[in-house]
Amino acid sequence: MKKIEAIIRPEAFQPLRHQLDQAGVKGLTVSEVAGCGQQKGKEGIFRGTRYEIKLYPKVKVEMVVAGHEVDSIVKIIMDTCTTNETGDGKIFVSAIEEVYRIRTAEKGKAALI
Ligand SMILES: Nc1ncnc2c1ncn2[C@@H]1O[C@H](COP(=O)(O)OP(=O)(O)OP(=O)(O)O)[C@@H](O)[C@H]1O
Ligand SMILES: [Mg+2]
Repeated sequence: MKKIEAIIRPEAFQPLRHQLDQAGVKGLTVSEVAGCGQQKGKEGIFRGTRYEIKLYPKVKVEMVVAGHEVDSIVKIIMDTCTTNETGDGKIFVSAIEEVYRIRTAEKGKAALI
């Protein structure tokens, strides 16, 4: 099992939600976050060398999925969330050791579906 964590533009969330729903992705966690990337939220030169570091509002979408689903979900995120401008976001994929559904005490893949 893998966790896909996508940090995207807030306005990309609704289209992404729709595409994920179409693809049968059910469980997800969404947070409003703030961050910066390789541009460091730099606003520009101000009075010589000074510049302001800004944190931009982003949406973080977390999904724990079966390993074989990762590539297709990553593609959906890429296709849906790109504007080709800086700040489109990042996708992190990591390993998940275990999942439990509290109601039924199911674990592993049975707890995911
Ligand atoms: N290395 C990182 N670790 C954790 N979060 C990150 C990292 N890089 C980016 N983020 C998060 O992703 C958001 C969007 O990043 P952003 O799209 O600007 O990445 P980037 O690497 O600067 O790419 P680009 O050059 O296309 O802007 C940031 O606001 C931050 O919340
Ligand atoms: Mg950036």
